[in-house]
Amino acid sequence: MESTDFKSRRINTISKLKDGVAIIPAASHQTRSNDTEYNFRQSSSFKYLTGCDEPDAILVLTPHGEKKDHLFVRPKDRMQEIWMGKRLGPEKSKDIFDMDEAYSIEDFDKTLPELLKGHKEVFIDLFDNTELFMKVRGIVKDLDPRGRSKLPTPKAFRHVNPIVEGQRLIKDQNEVLLMKKAAAATNKAHRAAMALAGAGKNESDVQALMEYVFKINGATDPAYGSIVAGGDNGTILHYIENNRELRDGDLLLIDAGSEYGTYASDVTRTFPVNGKFTTTQKEVYEIVLKAMKASFDISSPGHTLEEVHMESVKSLCVGLRHLGLFKESVDEMIAKNLYKEFYPHSTSHWIGMDVHDQNPYNDDKLQPIKFEKGMLFTIEPGLYFQNDNKDIPPELRGLAIRIEDDILITESGHENLTAMIPKEVKELEQACQEDYKQFL
Ligand code: GLY
Ligand code: MN
Ligand code: MN
Repeated sequence: MESTDFKSRRINTISKLKDGVAIIPAASHQTRSNDTEYNFRQSSSFKYLTGCDEPDAILVLTPHGEKKDHLFVRPKDRMQEIWMGKRLGPEKSKDIFDMDEAYSIEDFDKTLPELLKGHKEVFIDLFDNTELFMKVRGIVKDLDPRGRSKLPTPKAFRHVNPIVEGQRLIKDQNEVLLMKKAAAATNKAHRAAMALAGAGKNESDVQALMEYVFKINGATDPAYGSIVAGGDNGTILHYIENNRELRDGDLLLIDAGSEYGTYASDVTRTFPVNGKFTTTQKEVYEIVLKAMKASFDISSPGHTLEEVHMESVKSLCVGLRHLGLFKESVDEMIAKNLYKEFYPHSTSHWIGMDVHDQNPYNDDKLQPIKFEKGMLFTIEPGLYFQNDNKDIPPELRGLAIRIEDDILITESGHENLTAMIPKEVKELEQACQEDYKQFL
């Protein structure tokens, strides 16, 4: 992506600020254990507006300034760079990221007052970065401690996140391309997992292979903690231990997706450890797949996440009745939330730079956002039958099935970015017979 693409995103943000200055920080390194750190992951909104991967930087946007976009970055420091890696420094950063001005982060406190002049508000993260918020609050207070200045100085703080997150809701072509690359790496990893899995293998073997396949296909990391859940472990929605041996006759539920260029994929597949569905497993699997297809059918401009969810819920309720688990009508099952024992989560969330992309679900009038070309979300219906539920037939207990794809809204319908990953019963059984080495 060109630096001009990021510049035009910043211009777009500036157009929404009116009299306000926006302050948007990069992420910082996080300690994992003494003297060691987690892999660095840039803040999504900062990356979206700058393309910059440096930690501890800050972007400041000033609509009323002669110069409007300003980047504060770590200064060059030979010894720090020997220990921790290269820094760009302000001079190079100004050019590379096409900023009107760039400074050392060490000059932030003394430069910010100049940049705030003539502005009436500050847009900043009010909730999750209180350290920066308190620092900026102090700087603003010192600008006009008694409220007597005739020059406009900021008198209000507003939450910046919804502005940038709203902007991120509709993906451009560059973003879709990265999402497709994430999907391609994820496709290979799920196929490798299907080929490798078998009784006696461990969940961790499958996880390790998948994350290796992500990386050799250009992905940086998993987009979230991979869930590799054999048998009843799949009934734990956020299972992440991934350390039990796989058992003959069980299903394996895998919810894992790669991150490529700071864009996520989020995919779940469920298939038999031994490569062949039992009659009961197949019956329940087809119910979930049918619900997914019902949601696909209304994934087009004008519809909403809530509608997509309700299509899956209705279809799953019909399936649960066919299984003999309910005598109530579908309407009653929905009105009384009876289905939630077996389907406790939602069908969809936005996806993009974050796996659960931080975009609003409702518009300014609190109406559900209607799909438009370029929006991206998941569809992920499932059914989960807890082991301790004595009200259901024994053959259902411990069964867990979820299927998840990533959906891009197009001009007239949708494109399923992860459609190439097997999900029909026959395709899955075939994929389980493949040799995993072809993916290495
Ligand atoms: N992997 C998290 C989710 O499916 O929402
Ligand atoms: Mn998801
Ligand atoms: Mn998922």
